[in-house]
Amino acid sequence: MRLLVGRSCFKMINGVRIMSDSPAETIAIGRGLGILLQPGDILCLAGGLGAGKTCLARGIAMGLGVDETRVSSPTFVLAQEYRGRIPLYHLDLYRLGSAEEVEDAGLDEYIGGDGVAIIEWPDVYSPLLGLDRLTVKIDTASDESQRELVFIARGDRYRSILEEMKLC
Ligand SMILES: Nc1ncnc2c1ncn2[C@@H]1O[C@H](COP(=O)(O)OP(=O)(O)OP(=O)(O)O)[C@@H](O)[C@H]1O
Ligand SMILES: [Mg+2]
Repeated sequence: MRLLVGRSCFKMINGVRIMSDSPAETIAIGRGLGILLQPGDILCLAGGLGAGKTCLARGIAMGLGVDETRVSSPTFVLAQEYRGRIPLYHLDLYRLGSAEEVEDAGLDEYIGGDGVAIIEWPDVYSPLLGLDRLTVKIDTASDESQRELVFIARGDRYRSILEEMKLC
């Protein structure tokens, strides 16, 4: 794994773009994020099937003191709860079709509450657009084991988290 310093990195307004060269590197990036999180924080993980959202979520869980080997895509149960130093709620909205369905399933109650919410496939839940949050968009690259991660912060809380992560 490369050291964090020296990683291919590009700074943008409210955001950072970095490359990860392996699943282990994505987990390390997630861990660096997880250690900074507090109750109420909202993380949206976007990207296609197999992009690496759950891989990043594993790292975030590790940073929150959760045994990351327990973390898998919550696709069939919609939400998984883990107990680390604070609660972690891992939501997967892939199988839901509308914001109403998200609310009917009670999933909105996990967002911005007493723990950290990680939301895979967040686009279906449009109320998120009105909330401060950190969005990570993951894309595959030409190399099979490489991923592009674009972090976009909305709000001061998430801009300062991004700075503290020292990705660039
Ligand atoms: N640099 C990388 N970072 C993360 N995952 C990688 C990387 N290179 C290869 N991979 C592989 O890509 C896959 C990512 O799977 P993961 O379950 O995290 O995707 P996902 O985005 O959660 O997909 P889904 O939408 O189906 O839940 C894993 O098999 C992982 O080993
Ligand atoms: Mg997943």
